[in-house]
Amino acid sequence: MLELRNVEVRYGPVRAVKNISFVVKRDSITALLGANGSGKSSTLYAVAGTNTITEGQILYDSKRIDHLPAYERVRNGIVLCPESGQIFAQMTVLENLRAGAYSRRDSYTDELRMVFDLFPRLKERQKQLAGTLSGGERQMLAIARALMARPRFLMLDEPSMGLAPNLVSQIMKTIQRIRSLGVTVLLVEQNAFSALKISDYAYVLQTGKLVMEGKASEMLQDKRIIERYLGG
Ligand SMILES: Nc1ncnc2c1ncn2[C@@H]1O[C@H](COP(=O)(O)OP(=O)(O)O)[C@@H](O)[C@H]1O
Ligand SMILES: [Mg+2]
Repeated sequence: MLELRNVEVRYGPVRAVKNISFVVKRDSITALLGANGSGKSSTLYAVAGTNTITEGQILYDSKRIDHLPAYERVRNGIVLCPESGQIFAQMTVLENLRAGAYSRRDSYTDELRMVFDLFPRLKERQKQLAGTLSGGERQMLAIARALMARPRFLMLDEPSMGLAPNLVSQIMKTIQRIRSLGVTVLLVEQNAFSALKISDYAYVLQTGKLVMEGKASEMLQDKRIIERYLGG
């Protein structure tokens, strides 16, 4: 569904992403793993269109999208749920969700039903200010807001960051449910174990380079990979 060919991202003289190539198959959950600063977010921003690539190509449904503005990519179903959620704290849960539906001209009743079905907690709290939610609830809201744009391809940037272990596994289960609704998922995580457990395939970034790839189930069983690339 998505293919990166030789993609480079630079910030001035800094090469954050060094000519990486990878594919994400339709209906999969694909993990992009790596330590802090390895270029994971930069890669996602390049696909979303908020970062310009300095070399290479990005293909979606076999067509080049790297020249398209970000809003066109959203219209094509490519949606990013950014790091730390970045929800609007001064707005209510419902207002945050409405903001996520901005790209759709028609009604969003179906989307609202879908996200309230996935996150009953948000339904209960729809009139509450987002800034008063707990960490786990905020992350749920961030994912729910991304879903309001009705993605076909959803990128999640470290959805488990800062969450207690029981909430992490809850978020991972939700990601599996989202995939079962027909959404292809590219999951960025530092939390390699949790991500590999729900992923089909995984890539590992190290200082901007792809250093490792394979089936998630096989990576989980390879102690050398875990020690060498995934921090323990
Ligand atoms: N806006 C920016 N300006 C300059 N350097 C940046 C910027 N954003 C990220 N970087 C650098 O690019 C590298 C990759 O960062 P990032 O993509 O955020 O990694 P990750 O998401 O894996 O933690 C890091 O060295 C980081 O300092
Ligand atoms: Mg990041």
